[in-house]
Formats: sequence, C-alpha cells, structure tokens
Amino acid sequence: MHPMLNIAVKAARRAGNIIVRASDNLDTLTVRHKSLNDLVSEVDRASEDAIIETLKSAYPDHAILAEESGAAGDSEYVWIIDPLDGTTNFLHGFPVYCVSIALAHKGVLTHGVVYDPTRNDLFTASRGRGAFLNERRIRVSRRDRLLDCLLATGFPFRMFDHTDAYVAMLKEFMPKSAGIRRPGAAALDLANVAAGRMDGFWEIGLSPWDMAAGALLVQEAGGLVGDLEGNEHFLETGHIVAANPRIFTQMLQVIEPHLPASLRRSTGNPP
Ligand code: IPD
Ligand code: CA
Ligand code: CA
Repeated sequence: MHPMLNIAVKAARRAGNIIVRASDNLDTLTVRHKSLNDLVSEVDRASEDAIIETLKSAYPDHAILAEESGAAGDSEYVWIIDPLDGTTNFLHGFPVYCVSIALAHKGVLTHGVVYDPTRNDLFTASRGRGAFLNERRIRVSRRDRLLDCLLATGFPFRMFDHTDAYVAMLKEFMPKSAGIRRPGAAALDLANVAAGRMDGFWEIGLSPWDMAAGALLVQEAGGLVGDLEGNEHFLETGHIVAANPRIFTQMLQVIEPHLPASLRRSTGNPP
C-alpha cells in the first residue's frame, strides 16, 4: 500500500473508532444546526480533529479541505475530508454512515479511503492501482440493461432549488430500473457502486468531500464518473453520476431531458 494511502487508512480507522464509541451514547450528544437540515455534532468535529492530526503528523506541509473546518494551507497536495458522511443517519441511530478521506495531487484525485465503521468495511483506492474492499479487489457490476439495475441516489434536503428537476429524474428512473435506494451517505453510495453492490448513483448539490474518495473508488473499480452531462467537472459543480460503464450513458439519457439551464455546466453553473 502506498504510504500516503496507509496514513489515510490510519486516520479513517481512528475516526471510525470515535464514531462507533459515540454511537452508544447518542442521547448525550450536542448537536447544532449549520442550516436547515444540516446538522453537526461534536462527533463530526472530534472525528475531523483526529483525521487532521493524523495526516498532519505525517505530512505537515499538505493542505486540508475539510467539511467542518474548511480550507487550510497551500500545497499541491490537498486532503479532502468528510469526517462523518451520513450525520443525520448517525444521529438517529440508523447505521449507514462512513468516513471519507481523499488526496488530490495537483488537482488530480490520487488516493481515497471510505471507511464504514458499522460493518468494518474499508474501501481503498490509489490511482492506477485498482480499488479494494478489505484488501480484496473490487469491480463495478456488469449489468448492461438499466431495467435490471439497482440505483442509489440522494434526495435534495438542504437546498431545494432543483427539487422539481430532481423529482422528474426520479420519476423516470422508477419504471426504468430494478429499484432505487436513498441510503443517506453519498460516499458510501459511491463505494457501493465501486463494489458492484449498486449499479449506479446520481445526486445533485454535493460537496467535494462527499464525492472525492468515492469517485476515485468507482473509477479504479472500472466505473465511470461525471457531472449530469457526463463531463468531468463533478467536483466543481457538485452534481454527479457514477455507474458501471455499460449503464452510464443510459443514466445520462434519462437525466438529460430534465436538466434546466441552471444544472447544465455550459449554460448555468459556473465551476
Ligand atoms: C450528506 C450525505 C447525504 C447526501 C448529502 C450529504 P453529511 O453528507 O452524504 O447522503 O444526500 O447531500 O451532504 O452532511 O451527512 O456529511
Ligand atoms: Ca457528507
Ligand atoms: Ca459530514
């Protein structure tokens, strides 16, 4: 394992331990609303602090982009961190959440870890070296008919500007797929696509820390990742489609007719 990935794994496991310990005492947690339906708990912060401390002790000069503390440092190496993806699930005791850590080098995703502490599932990927679940190689699924595919998605829950367009997509995917799930942790949705447990995923309005590690996992597992038009700008726009390569275009074809100008990068959404 590459030393940088190794450090990311160490940080993710440390954070996972903090999250699991706290899951036994949910009633005592202090929770704050960042905005409507956007919660942060002391666990998100403790997890983030542990991750940053671990990364910084190995790589003091690297820059950080973390959900709770924001951007810090100036380096060609940037760690992109979601210390607890699926906070709402976590706070309700619904066991679908994870830690997500990625490293971008000169803007290119290079290493990624998604760690699900409830199942002790560790997903890892390094560019050009494949994707792994608990050290076993994973590949995206081979299904080639959208009708046979299980899709994951995320509903808009914080920003509702694109709800009508999103619901139109959802409505069309319903009869055209085998089923749609909204698990509630985008990084884990992407990891599940990488592992072939889900065939595809789409969501509108994500942040880089929701997507960075999971997107690399999907790519290294042989899948495709793009924005809603299939272009590479998903980290900038926050809109993402990820799938096995056989159904990626089929998903884009369902989405395309429902895209308002504001969701098309070329016409509305500045990077
Ligand atoms: C959220 C989860 C959720 C997705 C949201 C994310 P958080 O992250 O990934 O599945 O639908 O868009 O913001 O706030 O729990 O880290
Ligand atoms: Ca998140
Ligand atoms: Ca989070």
